[in-house]
Amino acid sequence: MAADDESLRDGEVAIPLPENFDAGVYFIGRIRTPWSSRSECPKNGRESEVECTIELDTRYADGLKDVERSSHLLILYWMDKARRDLVLQSPRHCATQRGTFALRSPVRPNPIAASVVKLVKVEGTRLTVIGLDCLDGTPLVDIKPYFASTDSVADATVGWHQDTTK
Ligand SMILES: C[S@@+](CC[C@H](N)C(=O)[O-])C[C@H]1O[C@@H](n2cnc3c(N)ncnc32)[C@H](O)[C@@H]1O
Repeated sequence: MAADDESLRDGEVAIPLPENFDAGVYFIGRIRTPWSSRSECPKNGRESEVECTIELDTRYADGLKDVERSSHLLILYWMDKARRDLVLQSPRHCATQRGTFALRSPVRPNPIAASVVKLVKVEGTRLTVIGLDCLDGTPLVDIKPYFASTDSVADATVGWHQDTTK
């Protein structure tokens, strides 16, 4: 689906996308949040203490076995309102354009978003979590356990981000 606002900002570059897809995706559920417009959403999940609900399709119910034993999960979701054709973007918080693959923007060829969330509770196929940043109804792509031992890189850096936060 296309973005509400298809206009390009200064410095943004759109490309023609391939004519065909290379693979299919199963949406395995929906994410319920209080946010109905992108401007209301937190910029990233870490900015929010709001409880959101992940509604897993009941056909995948058995796949939740042992999930309640994780304190944190990695949630992958599909940013269905984002355009997919930009290779250079001009985020509002940046003075200059940046490459799509240097950004966490939802605008990308495959609009897959990722957030590490705190698991509050599991009730049947409904998971209450803290740490999401998406619109109500956003399609769910995957749920994985978050391993602090292997997923966390304490000294990781993103050089350009220091320029924008100075
Ligand atoms: C910057 S992205 C970060 C997503 C994810 N945490 C990540 O790092 O991959 C979060 C923003 O995407 C936008 N957004 C949320 N849900 C969306 C959706 N379903 N389609 C398109 N954009 C969405 C909102 O503006 C929100 O603030």
